[in-house]
Amino acid sequence: MSGLVTLRVARGASWALYELEATEGMTVLDALETLRGSRDPDLRYRHSCHHGSCGTCGARVNGKETLMCLERLDALGPGPVLVEPLRKMGAVGDVAVDPSPLFASLPEGSGYLRASGLEHGGPVEEGDGRGYRRFEACIECGCCVSACPVEGKAFSGPAALAMADRDREERPEREAAALAFAARPDGVEACDSAFACSRACPQGVAPGRRIRRLKASLEDRAEG
Ligand code: FES
Repeated sequence: MSGLVTLRVARGASWALYELEATEGMTVLDALETLRGSRDPDLRYRHSCHHGSCGTCGARVNGKETLMCLERLDALGPGPVLVEPLRKMGAVGDVAVDPSPLFASLPEGSGYLRASGLEHGGPVEEGDGRGYRRFEACIECGCCVSACPVEGKAFSGPAALAMADRDREERPEREAAALAFAARPDGVEACDSAFACSRACPQGVAPGRRIRRLKASLEDRAEG
């Protein structure tokens, strides 16, 4: 489907309204690139791969966390389509965020950050012997963190706790460290079990399920 679409895009502290002709299969990211190329050269957003694997284009579209490169305009109707930055990330401007808070939240020594394919000459597969392993399907996009409704208290967050659980699963020697991370005051007890993280994850990592597993292990340990 193609046709005229209205986008309402966060621009600093205000909003900009754009109308553009959506072409067949055009995504929200395509639309921002069109707008930047033709009308607003200083419009800020992040992207890299354009196919849902780098995690840099996470944003809120119509109030829901998503990857802009996978979000097709024809599924969103004529608009206005609301495009805004992820929550709980560092500020850059417009739709772009700084993911530093997400990376800083990850458990120390977990070793599951992905290596860049550019740095290493190709996609990095799990256990490829080059010092990095992929953390399951997580692309560190931050959608789960943004969608999490926990506010007003310290919380390591769904991405970090999911990573801790995955870490102990892959490396049994990390069990104690992962459970210690989960047992911190800002760990699983701070989770409200809303499962918004699992619904928001574009990769099916289901952080809520992993938090529940950590909680169960901590309870077992307390009872044992
Ligand atoms: S640009 Fe890489 S996930 Fe969207």
